[in-house]
Amino acid sequence: MIYYKTKPEIELMRNSAMLVSRTLTEMAKILRPGITTLELDKLIGAFIRDNGAIPSFLNYRGYPFNSCTSVNEVVVHGFPNKNELKEGDIISIDIGVIKEGFHGDHAYTFAIGDPGPDVKQLIQATKESLYKGIEKAVAGNRVGDISFAIQEHTEKKYGFGVVRELVGHGLGRQLHEDPQVPNYGRRGSGQKMKEGLVLAIEPMINLGKREVYTESDGWTVRTVDHKVSVHFEHDVCVQKNKADILSDYSIIEAAEKANPNLFSGN
Ligand code: MF3
Ligand code: CO
Repeated sequence: MIYYKTKPEIELMRNSAMLVSRTLTEMAKILRPGITTLELDKLIGAFIRDNGAIPSFLNYRGYPFNSCTSVNEVVVHGFPNKNELKEGDIISIDIGVIKEGFHGDHAYTFAIGDPGPDVKQLIQATKESLYKGIEKAVAGNRVGDISFAIQEHTEKKYGFGVVRELVGHGLGRQLHEDPQVPNYGRRGSGQKMKEGLVLAIEPMINLGKREVYTESDGWTVRTVDHKVSVHFEHDVCVQKNKADILSDYSIIEAAEKANPNLFSGN
């Protein structure tokens, strides 16, 4: 069942999405070699609660942390732990909040120092593919138009592996609403979109092969070939001519550029 959001509901969802963007911006300020993902997770929980919201991943189907911190070959749902980040690592930080009844859920991949040319290209292509998908999130198009655009820009253009097992989703009073938004598919297929549909679009793209597996902890998703994987996610509202992006990378990117420990695209 699809829930279309009213104008006031969209504004509440923008607040929730922006709280996630602001939390990711705090991470962009402090990321450095030597910091642990568990330290990041504690700060994430505190920042969200200080801002009058609840970390929505915590206890979601038993998930035991505030955030997902997925390093290198971990695709998504990595557990924060006591391992120190090191130069050359990449980390996707995925954060969810619930505020005034509505969820925000988005993610950004950071590079600690220089990850090398192939990984830089993967990061750039994955971020670009997210925006290519968002361009298709307009009323009258179908979900498959988003999926196709992401797959075109990653798998077909560069030969990267598009993860099949995990998908984007509708977002609202629930973290996961209909419809599912795969990162691969056929143009013109799937649900027809109308104004007020809010989607979390989240390409998960592997440097090598597309196959992944879930670890025995029941959550951590890794690449089968142990090559790195990149994840970006935005919350967007379908509108007539142009999607309304409810989350905001510009504040994250500004903090990323200002942090000498992070590689920030050229
Ligand atoms: N962005 C992820 C998703 O949409 C986050 C879920 S992690 C969980 O599925 F811990 F909440 F499950
Ligand atoms: Co999501």
